[in-house]
Amino acid sequence: MPIVVAVPKEQTPGERRVALVPEIAGRLAKLGVTLALETGMGKSAHFLDAAYPSTQFFDDIAKLYQQAEVVLKVQPPTEAEIEMMKAGTLVIGFMTPHRYPERVAKLRDNNITALAMELVPRISRAQSMDALSSQAAVAGYKAVIMAADLASVFFPMLTTAAGTIRPAKVLIIGAGVAGLQAIATARRLGAMVEGYDVRPETKEQIQSLGAKFVEMDFKAVGEGGYARELTAEEKQQQQAILAKHVAVSNVVITTAAVPGRPSPKIITKTMVEGMAPGSVIIDIASEGGGNCELTQPGQTVEHQGVIIHGPLNVPSQTPLHASEMYSKNLFNLLSLMIKEGQIDPNCWQDEVIAGCTLTHQGEIKHAPTRTLVEGAKSL
Ligand code: NAI
Repeated sequence: MPIVVAVPKEQTPGERRVALVPEIAGRLAKLGVTLALETGMGKSAHFLDAAYPSTQFFDDIAKLYQQAEVVLKVQPPTEAEIEMMKAGTLVIGFMTPHRYPERVAKLRDNNITALAMELVPRISRAQSMDALSSQAAVAGYKAVIMAADLASVFFPMLTTAAGTIRPAKVLIIGAGVAGLQAIATARRLGAMVEGYDVRPETKEQIQSLGAKFVEMDFKAVGEGGYARELTAEEKQQQQAILAKHVAVSNVVITTAAVPGRPSPKIITKTMVEGMAPGSVIIDIASEGGGNCELTQPGQTVEHQGVIIHGPLNVPSQTPLHASEMYSKNLFNLLSLMIKEGQIDPNCWQDEVIAGCTLTHQGEIKHAPTRTLVEGAKSL
């Protein structure tokens, strides 16, 4: 019997993305699996049930889970969802293990295998499965659209009978996947863009998109090509230089993150007070606490005429394309695992699969999560 791959509606409030889009459903069916979907699961991303290839639909999520050998998700399964899964089920999605250690413990105890999309190794071979990147690109684009909407100025230069309007000045802090997409988007809208990051290789990347690079004397490269936390002295230098750039910007977009750490605080209250009224800060690092001292995650606040917007789950606000990209990431990962309608028993040795396995056969495989859930002694 071919395995059943099930896709429920997302349970997390506000989540509009879906793990399987119709085009990928067709490709998945060609791998020989049977698909089972919760009725209306794609509606929030504008994919109607009729668009999916001949598939079984279930109104009752518990019945859907009873059928499933594989469950595809965007957000981590809730404890109630984990309880509905059969022992041995494979569930794939973002797992946010540091936020939900109790769910990880339940996945382990109920013998559920969980693959965490945020743990897919960032190696060349796994680029097509890199959901952190695909969703960060969506967030970077959308951050600029939000900024343009909240700004009190035009982005492009406009020459009109009523005079010439100068282009907006936009500063993007953090030039990873989201930041680079934000730079490209702000440039397309005609703004004058500056970019800054602590990793030296971003200078060329920022400049190749037609933006100016903000120079500092130090570099802060940590493990695996990611940024490291700054020393107190480096932070001071960063703030002194950035303050001047922030003060003349109409829009600041912050995306800086350090793996496993809260978002670095880069924009101080004093820096905000140096901005002109009507300026805007879009802090898409607000999921991790935010890059601006005044950011209130999930809210829009105003301080001395400066709007500070701290959106959460930005990719979900462009649900159709974000779902298409995410669904392709999942398909590429599943293609490594499924042979002739079955899970290939050898797939667990593959470095990409091994790298993103959070729980398997009653154990927590990801060492930092194991320490978090079980304590240091289990290592
Ligand atoms: P991220 O979301 O972890 O962080 C965003 C950006 O913030 C990074 O560019 C980081 O350097 C920067 N940052 C951190 N602290 C900062 C500070 N104090 N001030 C200013 N900027 C700060 O990054 P993302 O987008 O996940 O990419 C991180 C790394 O992963 C990069 O080295 C990137 O090239 C690499 N990568 C590799 C891929 C691959 O397949 N080989 C795919 C995607 C990313």
